[in-house]
Amino acid sequence: MVISQQLLVDATNIGCSYRNGQTDVVALESATCKIKPGDKIALVGPSGSGKSTLLQILGGLEIPTKGSITWPLLGERNVLRPVHISFIFQMPSLLAPLSVIENVEIPLLLNNVEANKARAEAMNALERLEMHRLANKLPEELSGGQAQRVAVARALAGKPKLILADEPTGQLDHPTANFMMDTLLSNINESGAAIVVATHDSEVAKRFDSKWHMHRGRLEEEDI
Ligand SMILES: Nc1ncnc2c1ncn2[C@@H]1O[C@H](COP(=O)(O)OP(=O)(O)OP(=O)(O)O)[C@@H](O)[C@H]1O
Ligand SMILES: [Mg+2]
Repeated sequence: MVISQQLLVDATNIGCSYRNGQTDVVALESATCKIKPGDKIALVGPSGSGKSTLLQILGGLEIPTKGSITWPLLGERNVLRPVHISFIFQMPSLLAPLSVIENVEIPLLLNNVEANKARAEAMNALERLEMHRLANKLPEELSGGQAQRVAVARALAGKPKLILADEPTGQLDHPTANFMMDTLLSNINESGAAIVVATHDSEVAKRFDSKWHMHRGRLEEEDI
């Protein structure tokens, strides 16, 4: 039995619908879930089943239209990002006018880390992803897969307590996807962070301790 105060995320019967003209589109029907420090969770389910919507609610980017969600170990919604929770998005998410290294150091600077230290930590994160040679490039000069690796470096740089990754390997070939998952998982083992990864790739899902299934907007949990 897990005591609520020891949880990173405690969500009960959360749901989310969007108004589309005269009708409501239900993106998330119902999800009840808990995330503890160090949890490694794969979130699987068909396209449109609500994975991205759930991740956005878990990270406080989206407010659920029903149910309740709290972050007992982290605090209120307004302090979650960029300090405690970091995202790796499904879509390209680097800021176009900033160089690779500037993109990676943003969460650190927003967290008031001193500029020299932020630069060093950002470079260290890029090295872990073997992207340091591209530190001064602009996002438009990168391939989709390289940009995704930079997004992973940015997510790791601030040493968050929880990483929410939305199909982080979707644009990568298998060797690069494996390398990225190795890097993500070894960093997480070191830092004790929890991670939830939405993925369509069963090879990726296999590497996680538990698997959450989404089906038509509903979440079911299952231990692998
Ligand atoms: N902002 C929005 N406005 C209206 N409908 C939305 C919005 N976001 C998501 N939806 C709808 O909610 C449902 C769930 O979408 P979601 O993006 O969460 O699915 P997903 O499981 O992440 O799919 P995929 O595997 O394709 O990324 C879909 O039917 C989608 O069209
Ligand atoms: Mg999605």
